Amino acid sequence: MKLSSEWGKSALKKYDVRNCTILKKTEAAEGIFDITVEAGALAGAARAGQFAQIYVPGKTLRRPLSICEIGRADRTLRFVFQVRGEGTAVLARLRKGETLNILAPLGNGFQPGDTSRRALFIGGGIGVPPLLEAAKPFGPNAVLAAGFRSRSAVILEDDFNAAGCRVRIATDDGSLGHRGLVTDLANDLAFDVIFACGPKPMLRAVSLLAEKRGVPCQVSLEERMACGIGACLGCAVRLRGESGEHYGHVCKDGPVFDSRNVVWEA
Ligand SMILES: Cc1cc2nc3c(=O)[nH]c(=O)nc-3n(C[C@H](O)[C@H](O)[C@H](O)COP(=O)(O)OP(=O)(O)OC[C@H]3O[C@@H](n4cnc5c(N)ncnc54)[C@H](O)[C@@H]3O)c2cc1C
Ligand code: FES
Repeated sequence: MKLSSEWGKSALKKYDVRNCTILKKTEAAEGIFDITVEAGALAGAARAGQFAQIYVPGKTLRRPLSICEIGRADRTLRFVFQVRGEGTAVLARLRKGETLNILAPLGNGFQPGDTSRRALFIGGGIGVPPLLEAAKPFGPNAVLAAGFRSRSAVILEDDFNAAGCRVRIATDDGSLGHRGLVTDLANDLAFDVIFACGPKPMLRAVSLLAEKRGVPCQVSLEERMACGIGACLGCAVRLRGESGEHYGHVCKDGPVFDSRNVVWEA
């Protein structure tokens, strides 16, 4: 079993702060915004599944957002976020041409490994964006199983299709695709590895699915964060290692973990 401490060893530890000009901004679905920024060297350093701490004018604490897509050639980073409170509401009001102050890249991202494997990407709602960059190298070997409240909340379907991935959708109300849980979509699929991001109960179910199918699984966790760099000890998560259970930090040891190393609270 891979230890969480080993998991972090291959991590890219370098991060920087930069004022990034907003090149593009759209509303992807109601209350969900899609922003691409000119990110210079941050784009070269970023890896799929890492995140950024975004300065919000008027707020002391930065807000963590996952890196959705990395434009290596044009040195851009893309973020897709949902308005949840005051900070994200301020970010949603920023316009093209304005700047975002970004601390990035942070944390340990996904470890894609052999991209000729059949990969299942499972995303719940706003948990879908961090999976896009990780799925791209798998192309047709990747299936995205994405769950949303309803058809109107579906995001990034075209982007996964453009990357050559197959897409399956589940909605709570049945307005698109399968009516029911996103994990139901895995029932008739064959896969060698799982990558997942979404609400904790979904990740717990995905972890059980991986165990049942005997495949490795990487999960991206979300916890309330303050510093984002391991200094405030605010984002604790219970982990399991060879020496037993211990607390780690989502920002420094994650946000991506081997699902077997997470202690899933009932
Ligand atoms: C590693 C990571 C990646 C994330 N990626 C995305 C993403 O790609 N898209 C997206 O829409 N959301 C993402 N989130 C959640 C996003 O950070 C919160 O929705 C956001 O911080 C809420 O800020 P607020 O000011 O609007 O809300 P408020 O509730 O007013 O925030 C108050 C404080 O709590 C913190 N906080 C609140 N909710 C969360 C949360 N869920 N996670 C962490 N801190 C929180 C805020 O940063 C702020 O310091 C991510 C969270 C983490 C930890
Ligand atoms: S947010 Fe400060 S230690 Fe993780």
